[in-house]
Amino acid sequence: MAKAKAAVQFACTECGYSAGRWFGKCPGCDAFGTLVEEAAPSASGTAAGPRPVLRLVDVETAEAARIPTGVAELDRVLGGGLVPASLVLVGGEPGVGKSTLLLSALAAISRERRALLVTGEESVAQVKLRAERLGGAEAVEILAETELEAVCATLERERPAVCVIDSVQTLYSAGLGSAPGSVAQVREAAGRLLRVAKELGIATILVGHVTKDGSVAGPRVLEHLVDTVLQFEGDRYREHRVLRAVKNRFGSTNELGVFEMTGTGLTGVPDPSELFGRSAEGEVGAAVACALEGTRPLLLEIQALVAPSDLAMPRRVGTGVDPRRLAMIVAVLSRHAGVALGQADVFVNVAGGVRIDEPGADLAVALAIASAARGVPVRAATAAFGEVGLTGRLRPATQAERRLGECAKLGLRGVVVPEGTAAHGRIPVTEAASLRRAITAGLDASGGQG
Ligand SMILES: Nc1ncnc2c1ncn2[C@@H]1O[C@H](COP(=O)(O)OP(=O)(O)OP(=O)(O)O)[C@@H](O)[C@H]1O
Ligand SMILES: [Mg+2]
Repeated sequence: MAKAKAAVQFACTECGYSAGRWFGKCPGCDAFGTLVEEAAPSASGTAAGPRPVLRLVDVETAEAARIPTGVAELDRVLGGGLVPASLVLVGGEPGVGKSTLLLSALAAISRERRALLVTGEESVAQVKLRAERLGGAEAVEILAETELEAVCATLERERPAVCVIDSVQTLYSAGLGSAPGSVAQVREAAGRLLRVAKELGIATILVGHVTKDGSVAGPRVLEHLVDTVLQFEGDRYREHRVLRAVKNRFGSTNELGVFEMTGTGLTGVPDPSELFGRSAEGEVGAAVACALEGTRPLLLEIQALVAPSDLAMPRRVGTGVDPRRLAMIVAVLSRHAGVALGQADVFVNVAGGVRIDEPGADLAVALAIASAARGVPVRAATAAFGEVGLTGRLRPATQAERRLGECAKLGLRGVVVPEGTAAHGRIPVTEAASLRRAITAGLDASGGQG
């Protein structure tokens, strides 16, 4: 492989792996058919001379105040507003509401500062329609342009305080041979905009599409390049959307913004605990799981129905849970926890159509079934996570700290966990060694039907 710089480079659109030849399967991330051709980087030309260096004490901080976006939940996730001259990447699945969210923010910003929307995906008229629905966006300036050079030149002339690029994948630089949305184009666009943002002090927000597995599409380099990466997720809790920071150079990544999609745009939900707690309060057969999606903890309501059956082989039907895992949990409940299910059909559903594939959700599934079987609700605002073993013993789930943090963040009142789970301090935990104990601890002793 000791070859001079190849004239043609191939790069993976998922992970950014680059190679001198094409592979059907990316050696970097094992994805199929993701390698695309990109123009080789031109040899760096001019020799640079030395530059003066500074001691930090001599650095003058003309640190301007943060720019409030007018959307309280967005401000919170950003760490208290937009930092001038920063570059923010907002990722999310199609239709989740990225354009809506950012147009509302621009509308509020435009009352005090110049706010520019560069739209490459929608026509000016389409944006106007949305603006009329949201209201208050009269002063937002708009540019329908996909040519990178033209966008940068316009930014240099107009110098808005805040600029939104919707989306970075539509930007196109004629200098590069590859198609819009390719790795090279996206990387070039982000790099160029980064320079413009830093030089001119424009807070720039890039909208980026996400791939099937939820990461921001295009090379991971984009995530390294920008100051802040926000993920906008949704459609899981009906009309609700969750915004979280994956990376933030100017604030914590533990903040969470919850929105509700309405006809007049996205409304912040300042108290998500109410939203997540409400579904389970006093309801028989519902439990809240704290599952990990990749590295991301997520609270999910799990519902169960236990109905008497005449079938020789009672049914165990799970939507969103692995059927083998469900059969195992039902067997352990019968054998070790005193929940007789031999003559009953068991149905389990994960609310919002989410799939859970990890054992950490076992305990909540078991609690939901036990609650349904006994007609006793799970304790109010209580989540559960942990792995159920075949012996009826519970095993701590991975990354307990993150899960407990998520439960605390969403304002739950307690968590039932296996013995040996590291305590967190911010939320009361009830430890249980066995599934039987966990059920006793998790079910509401006062709210039963007998
Ligand atoms: N009149 C309306 N009433 C209620 N909700 C609406 C209305 N119009 C649009 N929506 C919501 O807005 C969502 C689309 O929002 P938006 O265009 O901001 O998404 P996006 O993330 O920018 O999508 P894309 O990736 O396609 O650009 C729709 O999925 C829908 O839920
Ligand atoms: Mg959009």
